[in-house]
Amino acid sequence: MTKKIAVLPGDGIGVEIIAEALKLLDALKNDGLDVELTEAPVGGAGYDAAGKPLPDETLALVKQADAILLGAVGGPQYENLSRELRPERGLLGLRSELELFANLRPAILYPQLADASSLKTEVVAGLDIMIVRELTGGIYFGEPRGIRKKDNGEREGFNTLVYSESEVDRISRVAFDIAMKRGKKLCSVDKANVLEVSELWREVVENVGQEYKEVELSHMYVDNAAMQLVKWPKQFDVMVTKNMFGDILSDTAAMLTGSIGMLPSASLDANSKGMYEPIHGSAPDIAGKGVANPLATILSVAMMLRYSLDQPALADKIDTAVGRVLDKGLRTPDIMAQGCKEVGTVEMGEAVLAEL
Ligand code: IPM
Ligand code: MG
Repeated sequence: MTKKIAVLPGDGIGVEIIAEALKLLDALKNDGLDVELTEAPVGGAGYDAAGKPLPDETLALVKQADAILLGAVGGPQYENLSRELRPERGLLGLRSELELFANLRPAILYPQLADASSLKTEVVAGLDIMIVRELTGGIYFGEPRGIRKKDNGEREGFNTLVYSESEVDRISRVAFDIAMKRGKKLCSVDKANVLEVSELWREVVENVGQEYKEVELSHMYVDNAAMQLVKWPKQFDVMVTKNMFGDILSDTAAMLTGSIGMLPSASLDANSKGMYEPIHGSAPDIAGKGVANPLATILSVAMMLRYSLDQPALADKIDTAVGRVLDKGLRTPDIMAQGCKEVGTVEMGEAVLAEL
């Protein structure tokens, strides 16, 4: 059956990197991949096209799609818009409207890129961590929220960090299931020494853990987790955490690999419908220059094939092709090293295509 893929290039380099991913998807049709691709605007592009970051037509399209491929959103020209109209709202809207509560952010260090990390090679060599970030709850969406005036006339800003048991339960199950398929170690990150919401989080994760006796479960406070990620990251296999902690820790983990331009992500709902995107942003500083690294987006296509389209063999094929291109010494500027050949977005995309 034909699978419907909504393609949302978004803003900045999003447009350039998605173009390379589309060439790849087209090529995979020769391998029997049966997909129908439809493009739509989101983020700043959504605002330009329809006056809001998540246009109604785009929302209708993603709702009936089997999977979504997203580039990146945001740009300086949108920074003065009111909060509701900012590009990031388009992204948050997609996550909540589609209930994409499980965000998988792998941090893998390709052996070919060991020198790109700012940490010592022996600390990061062979690094392979999966961060499972809760994506539709917590302080990002909690009510009440706002900016209000106090009695004395001073303003105060406030947000609510709230998690219900069912929300913690479902994200923990995703994390335990992933741990079962990997190294069978799960570290839940919280701030249970200070926050009641973390106290409950820890209790629920413990309870779910009773059903996964094979998985070695540990708990860590978020400040310590940030430190341990930099000190000795290879102690981690799978990490599970709240929305905001996951936002922060996944950037740290990404940088351990030296190249945020290499990392894909998946955001899944309860039925494995998913949105796939590189974890980097729209990079306005290099947009339009043809130098952005398309590999994170290409690897996001691989995740899409694996998690939403049930095509693990094709996913492997992409992963292998990316490895070969790196073996050949091709590098975009963000991962450039001595003795390698510097290439642009299109050249890199086409090199992967050639390896397929
Ligand atoms: C991310 C980003 C987003 C987030 C922003 C752009 C809203 O930082 O996906 O990590 O905070 O979730
Ligand atoms: Mg982030």
